[in-house]
Amino acid sequence: MAHDENKAFLRRMPIFVGIGESQLEMLAAGSVRRSFPRGRSIVAEGETSQSFYLLLSGRAKVQRSDSEGKEVILAILGPGEFFGEMSLIDDAPRSASVITIEPCDFIAVNKESFKAMLASSTDMCLAIMRGIVRRLREADKKIETLALMDVYGRVARVLLDFSETVGGERVVKGKLPRQEIAKMIGASREMVSRVMKGLEVDGFIVPVSEGRLLLRDKINLYLN
Ligand code: CMP
Repeated sequence: MAHDENKAFLRRMPIFVGIGESQLEMLAAGSVRRSFPRGRSIVAEGETSQSFYLLLSGRAKVQRSDSEGKEVILAILGPGEFFGEMSLIDDAPRSASVITIEPCDFIAVNKESFKAMLASSTDMCLAIMRGIVRRLREADKKIETLALMDVYGRVARVLLDFSETVGGERVVKGKLPRQEIAKMIGASREMVSRVMKGLEVDGFIVPVSEGRLLLRDKINLYLN
């Protein structure tokens, strides 16, 4: 049954570790599974909100744009993360757009169930607060990067954030278009291309195969 399946998904979410069955039950009762292809807008900046979302698989970008259509990427969300809670909590319009950058599976929880869940359980409130605090820490780190680092440092920070350890080496595995890096660090795509070329020529990064990038340890020098 969809309801039991949704509850099983919710139980596996890291943010809900230690949450009781009855709370998960309440949340599952107001939730549906949704799958979207790449490039779909799930939440639109400025709109009124009806749902809270938990990401089961795939990645999505959180993005804002100005009146001229210039865009900035605030965060990339991955499996186990949630979004759409802000406007449900303060009843203001959606603070940003959330757009899939890979095919994604979500659980969408309706507004009433989300609010009932928060009202009924301190543990649930704390779980959501922990997620929001983690996000604030990330945002603080980003402000520091933008204020204190030059473009080389900002690019190095994004590459390291997107890398994982494979056989003892730091590797960026997924596709990370220069245009997207540019939107994350407030620089032009041309500038990011120049910096990436410079990092490559100086041996800080090594393209190993299509879309795969090896990061040499010395790239950490840019973060100091
Ligand atoms: P909401 O405002 O309802 O809709 C957009 C969502 O994007 C928002 O809730 C948050 O869940 C998410 N969001 C906004 N700002 C950030 C950020 N800096 N980092 C990660 N997620 C964010």
